[in-house]
Amino acid sequence: MNRTLLPAAWYTIAMNTLNSVLRILCDGRFHSGSALGETLSVSRAAVWKAIKKLQNEWQVKINAVPGRGYQLAVPLTLLDKDSILSAMGPQFQSQLQEIQILWSVDSTNRYTLNQASSGVVSGFAVLAEHQSAGRGRRGRHWVSPFGRNLYLSLLWEFELDATQLSGLSLAIAVAITRALTKVEINNVMLKWPNDVLWQERKLCGVLLEMKGEASGPWQVVIGIGMNVNMGSIKTEEIGQPWVDLQSILGRDLDRNQLAGLILSELLDAMHQFQRSGLSPFLADWRARDVCRDKLVELHFPDRVEHGIARGIDSSGALLLESEGVVKPYHAGEVSLRY
Ligand code: BTN
Repeated sequence: MNRTLLPAAWYTIAMNTLNSVLRILCDGRFHSGSALGETLSVSRAAVWKAIKKLQNEWQVKINAVPGRGYQLAVPLTLLDKDSILSAMGPQFQSQLQEIQILWSVDSTNRYTLNQASSGVVSGFAVLAEHQSAGRGRRGRHWVSPFGRNLYLSLLWEFELDATQLSGLSLAIAVAITRALTKVEINNVMLKWPNDVLWQERKLCGVLLEMKGEASGPWQVVIGIGMNVNMGSIKTEEIGQPWVDLQSILGRDLDRNQLAGLILSELLDAMHQFQRSGLSPFLADWRARDVCRDKLVELHFPDRVEHGIARGIDSSGALLLESEGVVKPYHAGEVSLRY
């Protein structure tokens, strides 16, 4: 017998149990361990293991009440491909080559980069309910609890050279603010190059990962993490002030609708950027510049520059004034000084 097959088969069975348990719990009612076991033809111990994994690894809040069973502590509406597509409008739907919804993945960006290596082209999008190793900028971890936020990656190929791509991350930030405007969130600000902030707390992060030759074409994976409803998830590890859409709006927001709006604005922005570069986005970016005329620090791995932020130039570089001289910067991590 080939021994290596056994654990993989077991793993598949366990993952099926996990998914099925969660789908049943999504009705918001109590289900006993034995009823779940019977429905899924597995033991109560297998149900218990699935519940523990959901609670401990996917950070799903589940009430366990003796005599009644298990119930989701907070109702969940799962991501759904058709609902996302119907929020997009036909002209954008046709620009998506494929859209995948995953329950759990290490990182949607890593997954998309792998797809790009196996020949997938512009217009491939993936969303996950949970990331076990979500990637943030500068090697940071992106906290990604199950079913609460958006973790989305889109692959796009540009016929541009590396220098022409330098403003892309700012254009993407503007596209996100345009999508937020459509759900009546107008007052977000941008921190160079592409952090989306609300009252100086982080609402959304963008991670671009690229593959290509200096002269192009470039395959770009655009990874977006949007805090929608963090709930009571433990978030000490985030390490910076943050906010979610639920707290801003004071109500739930449909993640499928939001994903559709973001994808539409992104696709529109990709075409605009390919045609005209950063110029169609500059005015919107400047209008939301949270650092403008403020004291900031620009962090590099080996040093920190101090100065007054003086906006961005037409290529998207940050302008920093220090000792009366204004210099453009294309890299670094900005923090506001108080
Ligand atoms: C940042 O540090 O501000 C960037 C965070 C980007 C997180 C998103 S979530 C979807 C995509 N997949 C990842 O692993 N990271 C990005």
